[in-house]
Amino acid sequence: MALFIDSSDPKEIKDLYTWGVLSGVTTNPLIISRENPEVQLGEIIREILAVSTGDVSVELTTDAEHDMLAEALGYHAWDAERITIKVPFSETGLRVNHRLRKRGIKTNMTCLMAMNQAYLAALSGATYVSLFSGRVRDMGYDVRPVIEATRAVIDREGLASKIIVGSMRHLMDVNEALEAGAHVPTVTPPILRKMVWNPRTIETIAEFNDAWRKRPTKKP
Ligand code: E4P
Repeated sequence: MALFIDSSDPKEIKDLYTWGVLSGVTTNPLIISRENPEVQLGEIIREILAVSTGDVSVELTTDAEHDMLAEALGYHAWDAERITIKVPFSETGLRVNHRLRKRGIKTNMTCLMAMNQAYLAALSGATYVSLFSGRVRDMGYDVRPVIEATRAVIDREGLASKIIVGSMRHLMDVNEALEAGAHVPTVTPPILRKMVWNPRTIETIAEFNDAWRKRPTKKP
């Protein structure tokens, strides 16, 4: 079991890694465009690599097989051990994924909305298969059975892919992903902070510390 951070903000990533709970980073072109519109991709990914440990997913932005492979090899050269190529799911994506895996390059097949897609991605050797919780719900159906069925088929067939569940909108989505069999939830910084916060915990700690401060002490 692992937990990844879904962010391209090196400052946030550095800060949140100090908790000792994170073991990877996922980014995508939308996140990077929102958080770092002015910065070169190579520059921001190198900063992220410097403040994190574990796999860092970088998504392909081209859509022709030749271009996707060239793009992937460029990213892979930034850190052959840790860069994981996020390959958007499609027929071309499957071909690219297969070719990258044959070269031993780690991949994360992304934008998956259904178990049958995740099954194909896993069969083609993806290191990770990424199901998008919030976007499945946006279409009006429940994501829990999708995660459960994906985990069941991966386990039954002995496939090596790990299931990432991303596109988290609420804290409940993380609980659901964990219960349903995700190997790796990937969460945004605000959701990770919500996982810590609980008013009853804060109240209880305050009660204990207050009692300690007000305890009767012997006068010298
Ligand atoms: C996961 O790897 C993706 O980066 C991400 O979770 C997508 O989430 P969104 O639906 O909020 O764009």
